[in-house]
Amino acid sequence: MKVDITLKVNGKLFQLSLPPSTTLLEALRDHLGFTGVKEGCGKGECGACTVLIDGKPINSCLMLAPQAEGKEVITIEGLSENGPTPLQKAFVEEGAVQCGYCTPGMILSLTALLNQNPSPSEEEIKEAISGNLCRCTGYLKIIQAVKRTTSGQ
Ligand code: FES
Ligand code: FES
Repeated sequence: MKVDITLKVNGKLFQLSLPPSTTLLEALRDHLGFTGVKEGCGKGECGACTVLIDGKPINSCLMLAPQAEGKEVITIEGLSENGPTPLQKAFVEEGAVQCGYCTPGMILSLTALLNQNPSPSEEEIKEAISGNLCRCTGYLKIIQAVKRTTSGQ
């Protein structure tokens, strides 16, 4: 059995016919080609699959695609349609991208934070990425990249 759904992703509408158990992660990656959305654990523990839903970061592996109908979904591809954002530039400048697997999710979680709070404290930065695991950077460079963005360097 399949259900017809319409998803709004990065400002564009997409019509899909999918089994109702399809996760948003599967719909985005496998059916719509948004491969910037990464699959890590598949069970809500790593944050690699983070997307923004109505501006809030969520794990797309835990949400069913039909649940995202009528909501604004933003992936990393939608964030950088007009070139890298200041936060993305700061990630590169601070060496906060190593293998890069966590990076889209990190950037989206931190973008949601900065949209809400343009001058977060270090604690608030850590809290914002508490659901995003990185096995490469030790997190320090990521935190420095956010500070670089907020200080306008
Ligand atoms: S793949 Fe979704 S939280 Fe790990
Ligand atoms: S840069 Fe490799 S997991 Fe974060």
